[in-house]
Parts: sequence; C-alpha cells; structure tokens
Amino acid sequence: MVKAKKFVLRKHPEGLPKSTDFKLVEEELPPLKENEVLTEAVFLSVDPYMRAYMSTLSLDTTMIGSQVAKIIESRNPKYPVGKYIVGQFGWRTHTITDGASAAGSGPLIVLPDLGDLPLSLGLGVLGMPGNTAYFGFLEICLPKVGETVVVSGAAGAVGSHVGQIAKIKGCKVIGIAGTDEKGKWLTKELGFDHFINYKTQNVGEELKKVAPEGVHCYFDNVGGEISITVMNQMKMYGRVAVCGAISSYNEKETPKVTSPFRPIIFQQLKVEGLYVTRWNDRWMEGINQNLQWIKQGKLKYHETVTEGFQNIFNAFVDMMNGGNTGKAIVKV
Ligand SMILES: NC(=O)c1ccc[n+]([C@@H]2O[C@H](COP(=O)([O-])OP(=O)(O)OC[C@H]3O[C@@H](n4cnc5c(N)ncnc54)[C@H](OP(=O)(O)O)[C@@H]3O)[C@@H](O)[C@H]2O)c1
Repeated sequence: MVKAKKFVLRKHPEGLPKSTDFKLVEEELPPLKENEVLTEAVFLSVDPYMRAYMSTLSLDTTMIGSQVAKIIESRNPKYPVGKYIVGQFGWRTHTITDGASAAGSGPLIVLPDLGDLPLSLGLGVLGMPGNTAYFGFLEICLPKVGETVVVSGAAGAVGSHVGQIAKIKGCKVIGIAGTDEKGKWLTKELGFDHFINYKTQNVGEELKKVAPEGVHCYFDNVGGEISITVMNQMKMYGRVAVCGAISSYNEKETPKVTSPFRPIIFQQLKVEGLYVTRWNDRWMEGINQNLQWIKQGKLKYHETVTEGFQNIFNAFVDMMNGGNTGKAIVKV
C-alpha cells in the first residue's frame, strides 16, 4: 500500500497566499486497475498560473500543478515502469493515472531521451513554459530580422526563453525585470541587448533611450503599468502577445491602470492573448526545437531549485516574489 502526501487547499488566499491556506495530508492509494500506472514525483513545478487559478478551486482539493514523475508500477503497456512522464498531477508525491485523465496546461507526455540534460527541463525550457515562449512569441509576435522586441518578466522561465528566441531570429531585445543581478544574467549570459530594472528605473524614460526607434513586438508576462508604458512606445502595426499578468494575480479586484486603448488605436497594434494549450497538437515540435537549440548552444537555461516536497509552498511564494531566475523548480 502506497501512501501519497499531498497539499490540499484549505482556504482561498487573499493577496499573497499564506502557508495556512494549505494543508499537507496523506492519502492511501488503492491497488492499480487495468490500464493504470503508479507514479512517484521527482520534480514539481511552481508557476504563476497557480495563483490565478487558486480562487477557482474547490476547498480540500489537491493543489494543481505539473510534475516530472517516474513510473514505479504499471498496468498500461503505453507507460512502462522506469519511464519518466510529465503530468498535471498537482502538489502530490504519488499518483495513480490512466494517462487519459491527465489534463491541464499540457498533454501527458513521456519525456524523450534528454541525454545528459536534467529531467527537470521537462517542466521548464522543454515543457509548458518553453512551449509558451516558442509558440507564443513566434506565432503571435511574428518577429522579423532587425525588429525591436521588449519582453517583460524577462528573467523568468518564459521571458528568458522568449528573449533568446528573439535573438536567434535576429532582433534587438530589451528585457524588463526586477533586479540588477537578473539584468546582468540577461545581457552578459543570454545576449539581451538592454535591460531595464522596473523597480529602480523609470521604464518609459529608459525605453526611449534604448529603443528610440520604437517597439515592434512586445511579449507581455506581467500586465499593469509596465505594459501600458511599453505599449505607448510601440511602432505602427506593432504586435503584442499577452501571455501573463502576474502583477495582478494577488489582487482581489480587477486592477485599475491607465487604459491601453489609445496606443492600440493610434498605432494600430495587433494585441492577442494566448494560452499555450492552443498548440497542444504541435507540443513535441516546440520541445524538439528547443532541445535542438540547447544542443546547438543557442538556448541557455537556468533553474532555481528548492529541495524537498514539503517546501513547495515556500518555493511558490518565493517565485511570486521574484526570488527565481529562470525556472522555479522543486526537487522532491
Ligand atoms: N498564457 C500562457 O499559456 C502562459 C503559460 C506560461 C506562463 N504564463 C504567464 O507568463 C508569465 C511568466 O510565467 P513564468 O512561468 O515564466 O514565471 P517566472 O517569470 O519564472 O516567475 C515569475 C516572475 O514574475 C516577476 N514578477 C512578480 N511580480 C511582479 C510584478 N508585480 N510586476 C512585474 N513582474 C513581477 C518576478 O520577477 P521580477 O524579479 O522580474 O519581479 C518573478 O520571478 C506569468 O504571468 C504566467 O502566468 C502564461
């Protein structure tokens, strides 16, 4: 008999979630039925969308999230023992699944052979955030050589990846993030052309200095004032991919910010929201392309790893507060 540990939602958080909003409980798992497999979590992901969806979850349900898990028992030939899969199983150590029931921010996939690369990349650059960057940027921003691209949330999982794809595509890239250390990483390691610290600098004034020509593409991970400022400096027919709005996820009410509609009209911007699941049918294309770019040395990654399943809440809050560079991961 396997006992799973899992975090359930005890209270809908107000503002930044508190540890008392969750409860660690044990669940005895039944023997496997035909077609089912038993998995053991190896790495868990903490992502901003978790905050956005928390308020919609029923109390006492397992907290949502994806993980890389090892198949430790199987009654399904499609998922043999010893393989690693990425599934939307939530904040739990052990899971019984028949594959078909897995839903959420990406399809249940058996991880391809990553060679020497860490399995945790299946939650980052070779998983949902990586595909968000790949499809979201290329399909919505439609970047052209020589264009100027601004990325907010630039030092995070999606943003750091988008900026590097923009460099691969021959663009000038400006990243906006919250610490100078992150800025150094973006410009010195990842090849971003410029960095703006939104906490210590005036984003509008700095942007005028580094992009006097105006912005062709804006990949938005944060929303709010930063995004209004960037959109007011866009070129005619600019493209905006609205990927995330983390600046508002802890807020109860719809945030009140200056209307973005003037630049949308007068610069005739194309603004499009995205959900990475739009490209579920092309999922492996994104993973294979990102894997190839890593092997070619064109795409770098960084992970901020927290040790211990019991620390997943701290890892989540740390990520929401900007403690991560690159992908925030929990190692079980
Ligand atoms: N549409 C989709 O399908 C999809 C898929 C994946 C992710 N997303 C969205 O994309 C965004 C980035 O996700 P991620 O997984 O790559 O997370 P991430 O960027 O790795 O981590 C979140 C980062 O957000 C920044 N942040 C926190 N509060 C902020 C605020 N008030 N203003 C500006 N920045 C703030 C912090 O960095 P700083 O130090 O820079 O503040 C933090 O490190 C999120 O909004 C997420 O919801 C959307």
